[in-house]
Amino acid sequence: MSKGPTVKGRVLSGVQPSGGQVHLGNYLGAMKRFVELSKTAETLFCVVDLHALTSVKEAEKLRDYTRSLTAAYLAIGIDPEETILFRQSDLPEVCELSWYLTCNFPLGLLERAHALKDAKARGDTVNSGLMFYPILMAADILLYRAEQIPVGADQKQHIEMTREIAQKMNSVYGDLFPIPEPLIEESTGVIPGLDGRKMSKSYNNYIGLFETEKALEKKVKRIVTDSLGVEEKKDPEKCSVFKLYKFFASKDEQNALANKYRAGGMGYGVAKQELFRVINLELSPLRASYDSWMARPDDLEDILLQGAQKARVLAFETLSELRSALGVGRY
Ligand code: AMP
Ligand code: TRP
Repeated sequence: MSKGPTVKGRVLSGVQPSGGQVHLGNYLGAMKRFVELSKTAETLFCVVDLHALTSVKEAEKLRDYTRSLTAAYLAIGIDPEETILFRQSDLPEVCELSWYLTCNFPLGLLERAHALKDAKARGDTVNSGLMFYPILMAADILLYRAEQIPVGADQKQHIEMTREIAQKMNSVYGDLFPIPEPLIEESTGVIPGLDGRKMSKSYNNYIGLFETEKALEKKVKRIVTDSLGVEEKKDPEKCSVFKLYKFFASKDEQNALANKYRAGGMGYGVAKQELFRVINLELSPLRASYDSWMARPDDLEDILLQGAQKARVLAFETLSELRSALGVGRY
């Protein structure tokens, strides 16, 4: 893995335990970089189970997803000795801060949120949690006074909202919060799913990070391509198979496959087999580590609770100062 970038200030990010497994979009768009950052900066990474409540309604499922995501963080290389790895709901303080932010958050800003608009456009039943989602996310960031937020491109607007509310809080109550910066790798952009749309749990078009070899191969075969025949010349840059290939293959391998696309005479089946090979090569050891963590649920729980203890120290400091600035609680 490449040497991580050096960033200034505390780093925080979160992932929702809202589906069976972390997928390639999460990994390539955000989580792979969490590991690099954890080697050089002060980092907090969070399993945002309160956010997942907007969509997950069964307790046992949410617990399963939380375990799975914790195991995923560890399997990709997050070390709880050097990172605060915690579960959002272990610090209900975040709900308290959300209310303080809510009372200062312009309603119009929430109504413009892309995620809300997308959900409405999909015809989902929209609960108010989905609408207030960006405020809870801002609370995640501000509670720990994080300054650098590594996320995928789809989270840009949420970070902009967080910056806005932090500025507003500072102007009303005094300088309490650093203004967080998004760390978005433009080159990663939006990772395409099997159907070419953004890879997402909600579109069910994802490739799980720890799928068995067989399942992975099957998923790769399902990636939608255009209908050009074997003999025809093809454009690698327009193909989801090649877009994914670039993340796993060396420069030489990329050039070789791109040349085959352009020359004609290669069917998409060949490209898919090659994509499966490189993904499987990188993910096999991660899959083994994930499986071994999943077999130790008590250890996962201990790691989360220890993380929460460390996070609480930071949260307590922020909230004590803020309560006093707001005029709530003891005087
Ligand atoms: P979520 O599963 O929505 O909690 O997403 C966790 C992280 O993965 C966020 O930083 C997202 O921006 C990122 N992410 C999710 N899907 C994609 C995708 N298809 N492409 C790039 N980044 C993604
Ligand atoms: N909204 C983010 C997503 O869906 C998850 C998230 C919640 C988050 N709280 C956060 C990301 C704080 C970064 C910082 O991907």
